[in-house]
Amino acid sequence: MAVLSLNIAVVVLCLSSLCSYLVSTCNIHSGLQFYSCIKYSRVSYSQPYKCGFWYWQRCYRTKYTHSAHHTTCFRSCRVNGGWNSWQAWGAWSSCDRACGRGRRVRYGVRECNNPSPKNGGARCPGSHIRKNSGSCLLKHCPVNGAWSSWKAWAVWSSCDKTCGNGRRTRQRARVCNNPSPKYGGLPCRGSHIKRESGFCLRKHCPVNGSWSVYGPWGKFSECSKTCGAGAQSRYRHRTCNNPKPQYGGRNCTGPSIKSETSPCNTNPC
Ligand SMILES: *[C@@H]1O[C@H](CO)[C@@H](O)[C@H](O)[C@H]1NC(C)=O
Ligand SMILES: *[C@@H]1O[C@H](CO)[C@@H](O)[C@H](O)[C@H]1NC(C)=O
Repeated sequence: MAVLSLNIAVVVLCLSSLCSYLVSTCNIHSGLQFYSCIKYSRVSYSQPYKCGFWYWQRCYRTKYTHSAHHTTCFRSCRVNGGWNSWQAWGAWSSCDRACGRGRRVRYGVRECNNPSPKNGGARCPGSHIRKNSGSCLLKHCPVNGAWSSWKAWAVWSSCDKTCGNGRRTRQRARVCNNPSPKYGGLPCRGSHIKRESGFCLRKHCPVNGSWSVYGPWGKFSECSKTCGAGAQSRYRHRTCNNPKPQYGGRNCTGPSIKSETSPCNTNPC
C-alpha cells in the first residue's frame, strides 16, 4: 500500500481515567500541572483506488492511521492570587487644618502577584491599598484671652477723714489667664480692677458748744432799801445749746447770766 503522508495532526486527549493521575502539583508560577496523557498521532495518507469508466482510472482518498502512546502533558491549573508584601508608604497628604491639630493620611499599596491569580483562581482577598493617618500641626490657632473670675475683695482702704463722714474704697482684681492670649490672639477687654467706694466714720468730729442768744430780761428784784438809794437787779440767761458741745468739743466759755443793776428808792430817808 502506497502511503503518501500529507499531514500529521497531533492531538492530545486526556483520558479521564488517566487524568487523575497527577504527576506534579500545580506550579503557581506557570499555572501548569503535569499529568499523564495518551498522545494520539493521526497520520493521513492517500489510498489509491480504481475509479471511472470501467475502473480504468486511478483515484485517491484520504485515510488515517492512529497511534497512541503514554506521555506527560501539561494542563492549566487554577492558581489563587497571593499578596506581595506592602510597598513603602507614599508621601503624607497635606494637613486638613490650616491651624490647630489636624489629620493627614498616607497610603501604601501591595500587588496581587505573589502569585498572580491564574486560570480562574481566586483574586487576593482584601484591599490592595492601606491607609495610615496621623496628627499634624501647621501652626497653632490664635487663642483670645479671657478673664478669670473676680478674686475676693481686698480690705477697705482707711477712711479719708479722721472724723466725720468720709469715704473709703476697696478693689478686687481679675487676671487675663482663662486662657491667656496666645499665638496672636486678642488680649482681654476691659479693666482688670474693679473699685467700690462707701461711707465711713472713724469717729464723730468734736462739736464746740456755742451760746444761744440771751433770753429777755427778767423782772427787777425788789429794791434793797426803802429809802436812801437802794439797788435792784434783773437777769437774762443764755444756754450753751447752739449747738451744745458734743463728742468732746469745748464747752461754751463765759457766763451764762447777764445782770443789770439800777438805783432805786433814791429819796432820802
Ligand atoms: C473748738 O475750739 C477750739 C478752741 O477754741 C478750736 O481750736 C477748734 O478749732 C474749735 N473746733 C471747731 C470745730 O470749731
Ligand atoms: C459746761 O458748762 C456748763 C455750764 O457752766 C456746766 O454745767 C458743764 O458741766 C460744763 N461741761 C463741761 C464738760 O465742762
